[in-house]
Order: sequence, then C-alpha cells, then structure tokens
Amino acid sequence: MPLLKIARMGHPVLRSVASPVDDPTDAALRRLAEDMVATMWDAGGIGLAAPQVHEALRLIVFTPVDERPDGPSERGKVTILVNPEITILDPEPVEGLEGCLSIPQLRGLVPRPRRIGYAGWDLAGKRIEREATGLHARVVQHEVDHLDGILYLDRMPDLTQLAFESELHHMVGEPQVPEEPEG
Ligand code: NI
Repeated sequence: MPLLKIARMGHPVLRSVASPVDDPTDAALRRLAEDMVATMWDAGGIGLAAPQVHEALRLIVFTPVDERPDGPSERGKVTILVNPEITILDPEPVEGLEGCLSIPQLRGLVPRPRRIGYAGWDLAGKRIEREATGLHARVVQHEVDHLDGILYLDRMPDLTQLAFESELHHMVGEPQVPEEPEG
C-alpha cells in the first residue's frame, strides 16, 4: 500500500468543505482508506481525514480508544468512517492538547465537548453508531472538523497555549504531553 503525501496548513484542500461519498463500498474508496490507514501509522498519528491526503471526500480513519494507545494491539485498532456525523451529548468543554499531521511540530490546548455520539458507514455499507468520551471523542471531532475545512487552531480560545513540541515542558500546569498527533 503506497504512503500518501500529507497536505500541510496553507494548502487550500485543508480549507475546503469535503463532498459526501456516494457509495461507501466503492473499490477506489477502499484503496484510498487503506492507504490512509498505512499513511497514518507511518506518520505516527492516531487519525487522518481524506482532505489531509488531498482528497476532498467525507472519509476519516482513526484509532477508537479512550486513552493514548500504548501497545501494539491497541495501535492496531482502527475505524474507517464514511460520511461521519457528530451529535454533541454533553457540551461541557474539556481541554486537551492536540497536534495535527498537517501542522507539524506544534501542539495546542483545545476545548472540546466532553461527550459525543457519532455515526456513519463502514466500507461494507454498514451503519456505525457509537458514543465517545476522552481521547476517542477528541480525535473524532478533530477529524470531522477537517471535513469542514476547520483546523484545531481555529478552535483555540487562547493562542498562548500553542507551543512547539520541544518547548511544551515550559508550559505551566501542562498535565500530559501526548506522544502522537491527533491527525
Ligand atoms: Ni489534523
């Protein structure tokens, strides 16, 4: 499976609104999704949205775990979601550090609703419906934002909470430094 080139902030595809997928079972879509998973693992991310690989389609891949994946089995877990939709179940904002494969070397503190429901289709055309909190909810929100041309920086109320990874240790009260960017 070929690795795909990741678009970086400034490329217009990251600011476009992605188009819905007509057929989740399409063979070319499956190839794209599989290449996205390989690209995500290779880049050390835990999520990736199709616009990040220059395809303006409503397709995301991510690791559906509540905490940082730390073992090989956890890292192997992946969800491929077509035409995803989010419902906010608890709007109470929770802050967490995010990174993005399209914005290398930076991390920023982003408030996100605490609990969400999300839905979409898998590559067999089967409906997926789940609820999520923690990192799981964060990564899904981050990836779905990419489908609407939104980057995590747009969600930051305080840009003093943006830092290079190598300088994060200076940030006062920084609870934990994530090892992997959201995607
Ligand atoms: Ni991202």
